[in-house]
Parts: sequence; structure tokens; C-alpha cells
Amino acid sequence: MAYECILTEEDGNIGIITLNRPDALNAFNNQLMDEVTAAVKKYEANDDISCMIVTGSEKAFAAGADIKEMASKGYMDVYKEEFITANWEEVTRARKPVIAAVNGYALGGGCELALMCDFIIAGDSAKFGQPEISIGAMPGAGGTQRLARFIGKSKAMEMCLTGRMMDAEEAERCGLVSRIVPKGELREEAIRVAKQIAGFSRPIAMLTKESVNRAYETTLSEGIRFERRVFHSVFALEDQKEGMAAFVEKRKPAFKNK
Ligand code: CAA
Repeated sequence: MAYECILTEEDGNIGIITLNRPDALNAFNNQLMDEVTAAVKKYEANDDISCMIVTGSEKAFAAGADIKEMASKGYMDVYKEEFITANWEEVTRARKPVIAAVNGYALGGGCELALMCDFIIAGDSAKFGQPEISIGAMPGAGGTQRLARFIGKSKAMEMCLTGRMMDAEEAERCGLVSRIVPKGELREEAIRVAKQIAGFSRPIAMLTKESVNRAYETTLSEGIRFERRVFHSVFALEDQKEGMAAFVEKRKPAFKNK
């Protein structure tokens, strides 16, 4: 598939998806979301790739759904085409880790796409918000749910009801982003972190991700039970034998993703 709204690049065993509609601040039209879906699927299926990054430009990660494309849609249009469900959520189905690297605006669906990734590294220029209420809509790609779970009810409610933007410092303080780096170093830092993850055992990274995500889907006791079963299962992997032997022998492990 030839992409027009995103750029993709492989760097060693990581795949980088760069949202690229600069004239619309990377607003999500249908084509862009089809392309993101295809790229995530491609990297999931590619045995050479262990970790992904989704990023945008210095001015905007993404300014949300394309308002111009969306404005004239009626209820039956969005219902029939399964707007959002159809092609916005592939990142949530990825079993390999996905990092969002956010500079500039991450608004509406842009904020929601970042929230679908496994964690967010923010440039110091990042601005997060759910401004849908100001255009007569509401968050529709998980904003009311993921924000509330990740930053708590009070802040999520305020963001969604007022549409105000949160800067990178506040986003870090309330746990929306894992950390902040200078905006010019964002891409390089995200690549460094992705390569670090990709240097570990891929099945173990995938199982770890699945286990952390379970914390948002179930009770604590069920989550702990799930984690324990998964933890036991890693002892069936060659990479567990290699990782622990390497520690004992004071050498670097050579993981085989097995
Ligand atoms: N959809 C379509 N086009 C958009 C867009 C969007 N979400 N956001 C920006 N653009 C376009 C602008 O229309 C403009 O295009 P033209 O030059 O052709 O007029 C171009 O991008 C540059 O934007 P601005 O001139 O507005 O840039 P700015 O620096 O003055 O302001 C901004 C930046 C504050 C992000 C402003 O563009 C803005 O408020 N954008 C809309 C943000 C928004 O409301 N997002 C939520 C969308 S709804 C949604 O996402 C629903 C959901 O949950 C699924």
C-alpha cells in the first residue's frame, strides 16, 4: 500500500509511523486512519519488528478528527460506516509495544490515539486536550473512558467539559505521559527507548504489555491471578533461561525471541 498521509520507516527492529498531513495539522481523515491501520498491521506481522512508535510533527501530533470531513455526516452515516470503530483502533489490537511520541497539539482524536498507545513520551511543547465540546461534539475514540482511568475523574471531567488544553508539565504530573524531553530530542529519545525494548525478548515484552493492560480490564485479584499465570509461563521460554544464565555468567544476554 502506498501511503499519502503517513510516513513509515524501519530503524533496526523498530517501526516508526509518522502522521503526515501538515496542512491539516495531521487531522484524521478516513484515508489517514486506513493508512495507520495498514501500517500497524504490517509491523505486527513483520517478524523483524519488535516495537513501534507513532509520532507526528513538531507542531502537531494530531489535531483530532478531520472536522471538515466529519461536519456533514448524519447519524446513519456514522452508524453505518462504524465511524471510529472501523479504522481508528488498530493500535489497541497491537500485541507488540507501541510508543506515542507527542510534540505540539494532541487534541480530540489525537489525544485519544496517543492514549491508545502503551505509553506517551512528550516533547516539552506538547498540548493535550479534548476540545470536542466546543464544536458541538464529544470525545468518541475513548477519551471519556481512557482519560478517566489514566488521570482520574476530576481532571478528565474538567478536560472533557471545558475543552481546555493541558501542557506537557501538567500531563506528566497527572500521569498522562511517562516523561517529558526537549521537543527537538523527542524522536531520537523515542527511538532510543523503542530500541531498548526491542533489545529484550519480544515474547516477554508482549506478555508484559498484555499483563499491564489487564490491570485496566479486571479486578485486582483477577489481574494478579492473570499476571501469576503469565509469569509462570515465561519459564517455558528459552529467553528466560538465556536471560538468567547471562546474569549469573556476568555477560550480555542474547535473546532469540523464543
Ligand atoms: N480538522 C480539520 N482541519 C483541521 C483540524 C481538524 N481537526 N485542525 C486544524 N485543521 C486545519 C485548519 O482548518 C487549518 O486549515 P486551513 O489552513 O485550510 O484553514 C490548518 O489545519 C491549520 O490550523 P489553524 O490555522 O487552526 O492553526 P492554529 O495554529 O491557528 O490552531 C489548533 C491550531 C488550536 C489545533 C486549531 O487548529 C484547532 O482548534 N483545531 C481543531 C481541534 C479540535 O477541535 N479537535 C477535535 C476534533 S473532533 C474529534 O477529534 C472527535 C473525536 O473524539 C473522535
